[in-house]
Amino acid sequence: MPTPAAAAALDVHANARLTRGASLWRTATIESAGVPALTLADGPHGLRAQPDDTAPTDGLAGTPATCFPPAVALAASWNPALAERVGETIAREARAAGVHVVLGPGVNIKRSIRCGRNFEYFSEDPMLTGALGAAWVRGLQRHGVGASIKHFAANNQETDRFQVSAEVSERALREIYLRAFHHIVSTEQPWTVMCSYNRINGRKAAEHHWLLTEVLRDEWGFRGAVISDWGAVTDPVASVAAGVDLAMPGPAPEAADAVVDAVVDGTLSERVLTRAGKRIAELAERVDRSGGVTHAPDYAAHHELARAAAAASIVLLQNHRDVLPLDPGSGSIAVIGAFAETPRLQGAGSSGVTPTAVDTALTELIEQATGAQVRYAAGYSPETSSHPAVSSAAAEAADEAVRLAAASDSVLLFLGLPESAESEGFDRSDIELPAAQTHLLERIAGANPRTVVVLSHGSVVRMAGWAGLVPCILDASLLGQGGGWAIAQVVYGAVNPSGKLAETVPLRLEDTPDYLDFPGSDHRVRYGEDIFVGYRYYDQRALDVSFPFGHGLSYTSFAYSDLAVVVAGALLTVSVTVENTGARDGAETVQVYTGLANSRVARARRELRGFTTVELGAGASTRASITIPTEELAIWHEPAGRFIVEGGRYSVDVGASSRDIRAHAEVVVPGTRAEVPLSLDSTVDEWFSHPVAGPLVRAGFAAYGYPADSPVLAVALHMPLRGVLATPGVTAAALIPQLEQLAVLANSS
Ligand code: BGC
Repeated sequence: MPTPAAAAALDVHANARLTRGASLWRTATIESAGVPALTLADGPHGLRAQPDDTAPTDGLAGTPATCFPPAVALAASWNPALAERVGETIAREARAAGVHVVLGPGVNIKRSIRCGRNFEYFSEDPMLTGALGAAWVRGLQRHGVGASIKHFAANNQETDRFQVSAEVSERALREIYLRAFHHIVSTEQPWTVMCSYNRINGRKAAEHHWLLTEVLRDEWGFRGAVISDWGAVTDPVASVAAGVDLAMPGPAPEAADAVVDAVVDGTLSERVLTRAGKRIAELAERVDRSGGVTHAPDYAAHHELARAAAAASIVLLQNHRDVLPLDPGSGSIAVIGAFAETPRLQGAGSSGVTPTAVDTALTELIEQATGAQVRYAAGYSPETSSHPAVSSAAAEAADEAVRLAAASDSVLLFLGLPESAESEGFDRSDIELPAAQTHLLERIAGANPRTVVVLSHGSVVRMAGWAGLVPCILDASLLGQGGGWAIAQVVYGAVNPSGKLAETVPLRLEDTPDYLDFPGSDHRVRYGEDIFVGYRYYDQRALDVSFPFGHGLSYTSFAYSDLAVVVAGALLTVSVTVENTGARDGAETVQVYTGLANSRVARARRELRGFTTVELGAGASTRASITIPTEELAIWHEPAGRFIVEGGRYSVDVGASSRDIRAHAEVVVPGTRAEVPLSLDSTVDEWFSHPVAGPLVRAGFAAYGYPADSPVLAVALHMPLRGVLATPGVTAAALIPQLEQLAVLANSS
């Protein structure tokens, strides 16, 4: 093949071919110009590589790879360093499999608790999502494998996902839904961004010039390639014009022909096509083809990492009477529930990994016990949702479990959502555990007061109906192939749990922010809650929740003291002393939230701005320090069309969760200027608030007899200046002598 540099001089036909996949997982080869094919494969919690690249014969199954905890679990670790190691390890396996780009991570925000694909996304919070997603991308790309952050953008539901239009304000887009993408693009330059299927405010993401070119490239400086979600491109010419560089999958020679024709007839700019082709050629040049073959991955070591990641992702939600940890050395433990024997590792759909090994909790609980007697009863069938009495076999299985519970010192009751309840492709209509399981729980809790519920699920389930019946709840979400080992480690106290919820557990579905606006109808869904997503909403409405965002207990306890907050230049530095006040070593994730009471816009009471995890031996203490660029406090200022930091006195809340605030401070942060152009239609208030024109206008009003505190002004404050000037007897010349000059001055300052 000629040298890759020749890729720069591709003709229209070659460029058009490059903009379309050559197969399910490969891009086109342009022999004459030395452009090799790229191989892509799904992720993001492991590799789903289908090496023969034919239409899958075995459904979605790929060749075996390490199945790490999916994003729902990894997010609960609040541990970017861990996400980075997972990314790195996936890169090793990708190189060995000859995969050049891994299709992940999924960084969509969990707008709705009902989204069927929530297991593949990190959080309801964009800051946490961005931090973890960036770390994962860093790890992956450091080893010469490209990431594809997805699904860009506002792909927050599965219902009607190919067509639905997310009707969302620019402010909510910028502050919530685009934020993690922006962070990852500007810090990591992912090799690719995958555009989503849905429409945003009426326009298909794959044809959204504003999104794919003006925002992603012109504003954020993205230098990689935009690829489409599989099948998202329906009008290849419109997609190339909007900024899609590669439509997947292929082949689709007619699409390439349409692109060539459009250049010939002038409807598509050749320059735009050349740029798209060049980006794909550059991507192909970037790939290090020396990897693989020679370096067989150490799957045993990767399994150990999957175990450690799973252990770090378990959240201890409740531990009354310190029932946990259980003593592995003595007594009897009843393990009840089919998930202990047949674990759910991950969610269903394109992200499904064929694991290299699977640890089951039951086997691990038996093997890791050093003297305790561990006995098992299935209790229910995971796919059964109805009351057990419907079949005598089910009733007998439940009775047997209750007998075992009553005869044991403690119970580990494994409950969860069956795989059929949540998947890529559809959303949930309720958030309940199957009734057969909750009925069993009631009976088991009645039979044994030391019952620990261990939950397996990819999206939040309602706990309010039953959480009060048991002393302990261990949230094991979906932990990947090492989950069974990790659960046993936490149950027996070999690992002290340190996970924190990355999403709120509400009391009921009806409390959720999108309750009235999900999943929409007639191919439209209105984001009525605007920026109030997740805890931002529950806090604003002062709603009680079962477990708040950021919550997670430990077998030890932590005290916070001596909070100091300093603003220096463009940085806000928060430091606090954290002391392990219990008898065990443990880790605590310190969370920093800010708020601004007198904001000019509706603003969440608290927003996560930073976090760090400290590991402390029993009795030890340390100073935790978190640095936050003040630009992180910015809001999207719709009239100015940009982010601004409002100047003012910010509250800084430091805590163990969004509702367990242990220390509070206030700090004045200087603002960035965002003057809106003034005109006669601007209100008196807008004129008064302007830093340049304001003092002069206020002086003019005062001289005219209306000082700032006059009751007349209170009424007129929200009137356009035009209206004030139209009041009989008032003349512009008398009220604001230099009105015209002022407007010029204000608008040019
Ligand atoms: C999914 C993507 C995935 C792609 C390829 C699509 O249906 O939305 O996340 O990467 O298929 O499997």
